[in-house]
Amino acid sequence: MSGGQADAAHLHALAVDIAREAGDLAKLRRSVGVSLAATKSTLADIVTEADREVEDLIRARLTAERPGDGFLGEESEADASVTGVTWVVDPIDGTVNYAYGIPSYSVSIAAVQGPALPDEWVSLAAAVYAPALGELFSAWRGGGARQDERSLHVTTEIPAGALLATGFGYDPATHDGDLQTVRSVMPIARDLRRGGSAALDLAYVAAGRLDGYFERGLKPWDHAAGALLVEEAGGRVSRLDTFSSRPMLIAGGIEAHDRLSAILA
Ligand code: IPD
Repeated sequence: MSGGQADAAHLHALAVDIAREAGDLAKLRRSVGVSLAATKSTLADIVTEADREVEDLIRARLTAERPGDGFLGEESEADASVTGVTWVVDPIDGTVNYAYGIPSYSVSIAAVQGPALPDEWVSLAAAVYAPALGELFSAWRGGGARQDERSLHVTTEIPAGALLATGFGYDPATHDGDLQTVRSVMPIARDLRRGGSAALDLAYVAAGRLDGYFERGLKPWDHAAGALLVEEAGGRVSRLDTFSSRPMLIAGGIEAHDRLSAILA
């Protein structure tokens, strides 16, 4: 193992450990009921008390174990990195599922190197943990992607059309455009899913449970960990329109990714 890989493997072990602890806390809080803390960009864009508590736990553990690393999380102020490594964190991805009691929510933790900007960073390690489903997906750069000890691989062929997933932002004004995008990709689809957690959608692409995934307007913490899972499982991830307020993220096995890109680019 090279020095870089050893570092990434170490960051991976830490991400997995913290994701498990954080996810178990989210699940525990869910079992006693969810309280809404605030709404954000729109009324539909919610944050629960658990989102904040779980992010605080993740942040405290990272600060204790890796002082000097940067932090970019959904629910708190960003911290610049001194070491060159930044942690990109969504404490509960799929907050609306969480609030409604749907088990498809996840803790998403990525360690990236370089500027805290998705088009400039190099992802080193990732963990996506769905505590209510008991599934943990993880990867480190050069080390492959895995679910627990099992290696993950994207799909390579889509003879019956692609099983696709997507998501919609919280702003009702964007729904029409997003539905037109869905219409444009349906000719290559065998069916479409809307799971409600972008990090899990990407983990499912890595696991070959989906052929492809696309969504406009994701935030860095929604896709940082999942994108590395897909790449390390042999897939491809790209971002289009990165200068717009709603960049398009496309992920998939090579064939599904390229066919989506040909339509959406
Ligand atoms: C949301 C989920 C959802 C996606 C939204 C995201 P959040 O993240 O990932 O699947 O469609 O675009 O904002 O708000 O639950 O952390």
